[in-house]
Amino acid sequence: MILPVVVYGHPVLRKVAEDIDRDYDNLSKFIEDMWETMYHADGVGLAAPQVGVPVRLFVIDGSDLANDHPELMGFKQTFINARIVEEDGLPMTDYEGCLSLPGIREEVTRPSRIRIQYVDEKFNPHDEVYEGFAARIIQHEYDHIEGKLFVDYLGPLRKRLIKGKLNAISVGKVDVSYRIKVAR
Ligand code: NI
Repeated sequence: MILPVVVYGHPVLRKVAEDIDRDYDNLSKFIEDMWETMYHADGVGLAAPQVGVPVRLFVIDGSDLANDHPELMGFKQTFINARIVEEDGLPMTDYEGCLSLPGIREEVTRPSRIRIQYVDEKFNPHDEVYEGFAARIIQHEYDHIEGKLFVDYLGPLRKRLIKGKLNAISVGKVDVSYRIKVAR
């Protein structure tokens, strides 16, 4: 089932999300809906708060970007109860967008290497290191479960320049191909 995507201005995007356990209601159906919603909206990642559910779960499929970023070849993963335990490497800058911020693309600087601990959809534990664009996508999705958005990293000038766009998004005045949900 394709779920509506919560957009900028909705308070659920600002919550620090909660861990879940393996008995979480309808977990496999929820994960299935997350994938379906992400692919329908042409996203490379989607976090549960973006469909209005403040739990520590996100899905990523970076394989469409593997031509530009070889480290994304075959990178498809469900992350549950994730904790980034190390961030290092040279800071790198690249453009980011977000399904919750349609029409906005801005440069964001992030550490290029992370170590993350999480469980997958079967609750098998993982402790992994990611670099490059894979690390960037994970950090972006991880921010969602920490109540952060990539526009938080912009300087005051860029923030001022996109303020009008953000206001328009928050009231749903935006042209998107997927169903959205605004705060009310
Ligand atoms: Ni996002």
